[in-house]
Amino acid sequence: RSGVVRRDRFSGGPARGFMSSLAADERIFAADLAVDRAHVVMLAEQDVVDDDVVGEILAALDEIEAAGHGALPEGEDVHEAIETAVVERVGEDGGKMHTARSRNDEVATCIRHRLREDLLESIEATVALREALVEVAAEHVDTVMPGYTHLQPAQPTTVAHFLLSYESAFARDTARLLDAYDRTNRSPLGAAAFAGTPFDIDRERTAELLGFDGVVANSMDASAGRDFLAESTAALATHATTLSGLAEDLVIFANKGHVDLADEYSSTSSIMPQKVNPDTLELVRAVAGDAVGGLSGLLTTLKGLPRAYNRDLQRATPHAWETVDAVSEATAVAAGAVATAEWPEETLEAASGEGFSTATGVADALAMAGVPFRTAHEVLAAAAERADGETPDLATLDAVAGDVLGESLFTYVSRERVEAALDPVQSVASRDSAGGPAPEAVAAQLDDAEAGID
Ligand code: ARG
Repeated sequence: RSGVVRRDRFSGGPARGFMSSLAADERIFAADLAVDRAHVVMLAEQDVVDDDVVGEILAALDEIEAAGHGALPEGEDVHEAIETAVVERVGEDGGKMHTARSRNDEVATCIRHRLREDLLESIEATVALREALVEVAAEHVDTVMPGYTHLQPAQPTTVAHFLLSYESAFARDTARLLDAYDRTNRSPLGAAAFAGTPFDIDRERTAELLGFDGVVANSMDASAGRDFLAESTAALATHATTLSGLAEDLVIFANKGHVDLADEYSSTSSIMPQKVNPDTLELVRAVAGDAVGGLSGLLTTLKGLPRAYNRDLQRATPHAWETVDAVSEATAVAAGAVATAEWPEETLEAASGEGFSTATGVADALAMAGVPFRTAHEVLAAAAERADGETPDLATLDAVAGDVLGESLFTYVSRERVEAALDPVQSVASRDSAGGPAPEAVAAQLDDAEAGID
């Protein structure tokens, strides 16, 4: 037959623009070309479509790739537009490209193909952030700083212990993202609309050509399933939430003069000449909002969707793209801010005893001498009250001990022992339980963190 007779498949009427995802599909333009190529190569190998027709289709796809997404004809989505462009070049036989498949399995394959790349990028950013944390931590194993609960001075710790607390969480984020990657990395192609196909296709072959680890077996699950998107977005939102905590800590520490953020990660005010603001980290903190919003938008769109394909899915996907972009960028920026920040050792050491943060250590010393911990706690609570939140002197401690215990403090612990407990550096050094802030305990955590990154 000569000439191509096609009705305009994409009518859409007045809702044409509303229905089209072509612009948003730029993100999966390259993926769709890869999927088209793998599919037609398999069709040729299986003798479903003649080799020469497949050759022409492949040549047309090369031209379409070179012309770029912007040169595509109008269409309901990128899949339809590319098919139209193939038919424009090859003629009616170009329509054989869509044998034994549907846009439903096609789009699911494209999303997984592209998301794999994006997940790898987010994993790389997360690992780079962990490297930055470990590098700075290694320099500050002995740098004592105040540790907080309820934003109030609680117990002295070290900069390394603080930074590695985030590294540990980001290591778990990495594992979650890798897990999401594994389940994303399966091919739905060949599921067709949802009900398979009578053609003698080879799903394993297209999966292999596209670099997937295998297929999503059930064809209805393959077309309809988007839990891989939910899982990936949830892993990113979880990561962004912890990241926002790190950003918040750094904003607060910068405010107290406990950390000096590099100028390139700070900004000035357009009106107040004296200001240097931690805007970059405030934006990192805000990205958790984007990520949780993306996850919420995605899950809400997916909720209640019946099998097998519903067009709602077209609006689900962009939530995941927005999330992965925002979170990967924020992670990379946070890595730079961490790597370039300075920790002023003297200021931190001076601040680390503020608010009688060594009280627990004195109570521990009493408890080690046989006083029940609850009683020791009472002694130190009374001392804290008497010293009005500051660190009490030895005379005050002794007087309070006399009131509560009926005996001098120094019948239980030596003066030297009490003085050591009141010294933030020695206080930290004494807390050498596994995972604690003492330098040798942190050295073990550093080793584990380094081993986890390799
Ligand atoms: N663009 C659609 C999506 O992103 C795929 C089109 C499938 N359309 C359909 N009517 N079955 O989900």
